[in-house]
Amino acid sequence: MKNSGSVYKYELMWILPSIALPIVMLGLLIYMAFGHGIHLPGEAGIVDPAKLTATAPFNKLGVHQVGEKRYQVNMMAGIWFFVPNQIKVPAGSTVEFVASSKDVVHGLFIKGANVNAMLLPGQVTRVTARFDKPGEYPFLCHEYCGAAHHTMWGKVIVE
Ligand code: CUA
Repeated sequence: MKNSGSVYKYELMWILPSIALPIVMLGLLIYMAFGHGIHLPGEAGIVDPAKLTATAPFNKLGVHQVGEKRYQVNMMAGIWFFVPNQIKVPAGSTVEFVASSKDVVHGLFIKGANVNAMLLPGQVTRVTARFDKPGEYPFLCHEYCGAAHHTMWGKVIVE
């Protein structure tokens, strides 16, 4: 039969990509995991949320200067607050936020800065942002965390 040959050709056009795609994806996964070192957080990023304020760097909450125009903010989130909730840095500063939650899942979103992260109990979140323009950059919790979720906010004041 003449037609059956072309029917198989179409079958093959579907089957081959469906075999090739998972192979390509597996290849990419292996490449990202080993080539770029993207993997689940290691031991270094794990803390006991119940002992958060007794564990470095969360035993020193607040803003710390670590270099010229470089700051590290050790931040704790809890129901329903951030410590610190007012962060003052000079314009042109690069700020690394090292944050974690002491209880439930919270979020950290800083308006006008490239910060949008989840804060998980037991995990350390590190995000870095540069603040060039003076002004106030409000931040808030954007993961629903209970009755007073909407009161969980603070601001970065760039002077
Ligand atoms: Cu914390 Cu919502």
